[in-house]
Amino acid sequence: MAAPDRIVILTGAGLSAESGLGTFRDKGGIWAQHRIEDVATPEAFARDPARVHDFYSQRRRQAAAATPNPAHLALARLQRAHPGSVAIVTQNVDGLHEAAGSAALHMHGRLADALCPRCGHRWPAPPEMTPQTPCPACTAAPVRPDVVWFGEIPHHMEEIAALLDACTLFAAIGTSGQVYPAAGFVSAAQDSGAHTVELNLTDSEISAAFAEHRRGPASRSVPDWVEDLLQKAR
Ligand code: APR
Repeated sequence: MAAPDRIVILTGAGLSAESGLGTFRDKGGIWAQHRIEDVATPEAFARDPARVHDFYSQRRRQAAAATPNPAHLALARLQRAHPGSVAIVTQNVDGLHEAAGSAALHMHGRLADALCPRCGHRWPAPPEMTPQTPCPACTAAPVRPDVVWFGEIPHHMEEIAALLDACTLFAAIGTSGQVYPAAGFVSAAQDSGAHTVELNLTDSEISAAFAEHRRGPASRSVPDWVEDLLQKAR
């Protein structure tokens, strides 16, 4: 197969697991420690903003202390080797793709940013946000973490649909395939005639939809996969 020229890579929590950040649905994961309806819905924020801020401030501290692992670095290497041809669409809200040197579309937002629900202002979140933290632009409070909650529409969906429509290679890395619309991206890529590959520790809800599977920890499987792609392009 010649080097694919339009690559879309969907990443999930499994990509950052070896950077020490918890996944959501693995044993003992985030959703085993917290209920989604308590910390990750607009209703939860309206009901108890302090609890929601505590949840995200803890994850913001962990993400700020984390460093990219070889999988993040390999994806950045792939983007550098094929400028403009490798789109990363991440479900992750940590900043590890950017820390590794990648550009990524954050469909679920960014933990490091705050968002004012009243005026829409976005700014780098203070480490510890509380319901009393005012918006620096319009002074409204409470402000929220700039993350997409269950029941809300993910970001960049039109751009992602166009990328999937045009891609020749689609990869999903470290995602359980249990949350839509991301879990449906592989079908859209297949409809475009793209080759599809899943890189994961184990099977996922969407494994059957992929033409190729690479099993193992991302810090090993992703660099190997990127090296194979770069070899093909030489
Ligand atoms: N290497 C590769 N894959 C791994 C590793 C690893 N070291 N560790 C875990 N995984 C895989 C798991 O096998 C699982 O398939 O990562 C996946 C993690 O799945 P989830 O915890 O469900 O995370 P994700 O798929 O990203 O969740 C999607 O759900 O709660 C929402 O908004 C949240 O973005 C999140 C979305």
